[in-house]
Amino acid sequence: MVNVLVIGSGGREHALSWKLSQSSKVDKVFSAPGNGGTENNIPIDIDDLNALAEFAKKNNCFTVVGPEAPLAAGIVDKFNQLNLKIFGPSQKAAQLESSKIWAKNFMKRNGIQTAKFEIFDDAKKAEEYVRSLDYNVVVKADGLASGKGVIVCNDADDAIAAINTILVKKTFGNAGNRILVEERIDGIEASYIALCDGMTAIPMASSQDHKRIFDDDKGPNTGGMGAYSPTPVIDNVLAEKIQNKIINKTIQSMKNEGIVFKGFLYAGVMIRDNEPYVLEYNVRMGDPECQPITMRMDFDLYDYLVASINGTLSTMPKITWKNQSSVCIVLASEGYPESYPKDEVITGFDLVPKNTMVFHAGTKKQDGKIFSSGGRVLGVTALGDTLKSAISNAYIAAEKISWSHKYYRKDIGKKGLSYL
Ligand SMILES: Nc1ncnc2c1ncn2[C@@H]1O[C@H](COP(=O)(O)OP(=O)(O)O)[C@@H](O)[C@H]1O
Ligand SMILES: [Mg+2]
Repeated sequence: MVNVLVIGSGGREHALSWKLSQSSKVDKVFSAPGNGGTENNIPIDIDDLNALAEFAKKNNCFTVVGPEAPLAAGIVDKFNQLNLKIFGPSQKAAQLESSKIWAKNFMKRNGIQTAKFEIFDDAKKAEEYVRSLDYNVVVKADGLASGKGVIVCNDADDAIAAINTILVKKTFGNAGNRILVEERIDGIEASYIALCDGMTAIPMASSQDHKRIFDDDKGPNTGGMGAYSPTPVIDNVLAEKIQNKIINKTIQSMKNEGIVFKGFLYAGVMIRDNEPYVLEYNVRMGDPECQPITMRMDFDLYDYLVASINGTLSTMPKITWKNQSSVCIVLASEGYPESYPKDEVITGFDLVPKNTMVFHAGTKKQDGKIFSSGGRVLGVTALGDTLKSAISNAYIAAEKISWSHKYYRKDIGKKGLSYL
């Protein structure tokens, strides 16, 4: 038996630790630092790589990294040097996410379909460029900005304001030393996630996130307000296209460039005229997509994460998914993604039906009670025989939970229904 150490503190990490703890090969699952819903929390910060390695070594842990920051900081390389088992991409492979400019250049030189773009470090030149275009753009900070460094623009004035925010005001610090100005693609957005071992990429179930804070995709972008799986937006034909033209091509091109990609490879895609364009790569599971996806897993996730590290995914049995839909509704604190109140007591967990999971994110446990501690607080995740019933099951459960400034979207999954 092995212990598992899950690094991170969001809903994604709670879902991963929940699933991994079901493996017959896994003894104890630790979380660093974890949240009010995870067990065996270890008070080590996600960027204290030395302390994490020491803990993993002492406790015979197989380590699973949830968020991007430790991957970008090279946690996998460090653990490998110490002969510690860890699931995820190396620092070099993580560049697909840690530098949007690196990723765009990579796609360009390898012929992977993505929006047209230019790179700037000078605001004046970026402004001139934007004024010369006859289409709308999206302005992106190069580096990691916790999902806030991308500004979708409706006209040139928007774009110029965005350029100033990132390059002049430095709102995202050094992550905004350089920017991408790319063509805005208007289409349907979906997430495609595959588990990779450097050669083989096994697709996870399809899913769709809901990025904006308000219903009908209004308001600013957030980390994600809810997700469901599978999504009819990605039919079999499109799935095959994404798998071949994007995922396999990415893994193969990385290999050609001497980089072995192990871990979850997430392609955020925009679909226009039935063609997928990569908006970005993530080198880990999405949050909240991870929550509905893990709930549908009908296989031992631990076995497959081990196979990813060992480069043996092609020898593993075909994975199977519960033939049901799953919906995750994010319960947030009112005011998110800007400022919001914290430390509010949350009640109603005991009223949630048994087969519905309430994954914790921004919560903490104190004296046996759960308090809010972040913008995205909980991810209520339910299964159903159809998307419609999964939506209804998730909302029934979401309504049972209360705190003073609870806020959630009322239309999670609706986009999918319109396809059926
Ligand atoms: N080229 C594009 N065209 C249209 N929308 C885009 C484009 N690039 C990004 N977006 C929108 O902005 C969101 C955030 O951009 P993304 O590149 O995924 O960055 P991050 O997740 O790091 O914030 C996307 O989910 C998508 O809705
Ligand atoms: Mg994104």
